[in-house]
Amino acid sequence: MALLWNSAVLFLYIVKTLGESGVPKINPFHFSGELDVGMRASVQCAVIYGDPPFEFSWSKDGHKLMDARGVSVRTFDDFTSTLVISKVDADSNGNYSCKAANSKGFDEKAALLLVKAFFNNGNCILKMAFLTINLVLILVSAKFSLADEGIPKIGPFYFHGDLVVGMRTSVLCAVIFGDPPFEFSWSKDGHKLSEARSISVKNIDDFTSNLAISKVDADSNGNYTCRASNSKGFDEKSALLSVKELGAPKVNPFNFFGELDVGMRASVHCAVIYGDIPFEFMWLKDGQPLADSRGISFRKTDEYTSNLVISKVDADSNGNYTCRVTNLKGSDERSAVLSVKGIS
Ligand SMILES: *[C@@H]1O[C@H](CO)[C@@H](O)[C@H](O)[C@H]1NC(C)=O
Ligand SMILES: *[C@@H]1O[C@H](CO)[C@@H](O)[C@H](O)[C@H]1NC(C)=O
Ligand SMILES: *[C@@H]1O[C@H](CO)[C@@H](O)[C@H](O)[C@H]1NC(C)=O
Repeated sequence: MALLWNSAVLFLYIVKTLGESGVPKINPFHFSGELDVGMRASVQCAVIYGDPPFEFSWSKDGHKLMDARGVSVRTFDDFTSTLVISKVDADSNGNYSCKAANSKGFDEKAALLLVKAFFNNGNCILKMAFLTINLVLILVSAKFSLADEGIPKIGPFYFHGDLVVGMRTSVLCAVIFGDPPFEFSWSKDGHKLSEARSISVKNIDDFTSNLAISKVDADSNGNYTCRASNSKGFDEKSALLSVKELGAPKVNPFNFFGELDVGMRASVHCAVIYGDIPFEFMWLKDGQPLADSRGISFRKTDEYTSNLVISKVDADSNGNYTCRVTNLKGSDERSAVLSVKGIS
């Protein structure tokens, strides 16, 4: 009963941490709040968890989005689909949503695009007022922008707030305004980001650079900055990545079956119910490390569990067995006594 309950807790924990197993999870995306008529808008729909292949579909205000008039949707890699509107105008305003589906289920995320000069208010008088004000603003900003004409402007990007160790994440650094060619560079906490282990940086097109981290861990935490520069100047945007801290392991209590006769098989599960992967499992008997031998074997059955099996118990099997679990944050251990019937 206790084991059942504990298995249920463990299962719930994994489900809660990683989402229902294999069902996609999408990184939220946002359009820049500084989009003026004629600027370029682009967002990416990036899956951070789940099993490929994924089928991506985009819609605008509930209608399937068609490749048309400067709107293009492309698959960047197995995990990412990008939407580009090469020049936004009043018709571009709307609620854009991306759906990523696989055999297990789907996730959907949406973002509003509001072109600065054309907030579609529904109210005619307000609209007129907006248009007038915006016309003035456009004239004023046109005057201003003569000065910084062609200097790149980047849209904002964000990392998912619920990233857990082992998840995938990717963000898009997209130029919304300015003259190509651009040079993109990424840094983390002020240091140039080098492509290493799980980090990759790729330019999607002349206007966009993608940063992907295939498996985040505690080392991934930091302030990521993208800089886009051209001959006229540069712009920078930053976002914080923070992997959820789950802490040191907690091991579930376990017990040997009470009535073991000589020759019977004994097995126990050492299950972690809390903590950050990866875990290292170690088995001890009366305080001494156990080695795989003489009918004793132990193996990790998944990231969170190790099984100890004694194929045929005898007098030598009696003892106090400990499972010790260690991760980067600390360790925990549980013990159980094995006593074979009639032998002491
Ligand atoms: C945008 O669309 C999504 C999905 O269709 C919906 O959940 C969300 O409420 C919409 N947002 C707004 C502001 O209309
Ligand atoms: C991240 O880095 C940028 C650029 O160096 C800086 O302007 C910003 O304040 C930093 N953000 C945080 C939260 O440290
Ligand atoms: C078994 O070993 C653990 C760890 O060394 C210890 O804390 C525990 O008291 C021992 N149990 C018995 C019954 O000796």
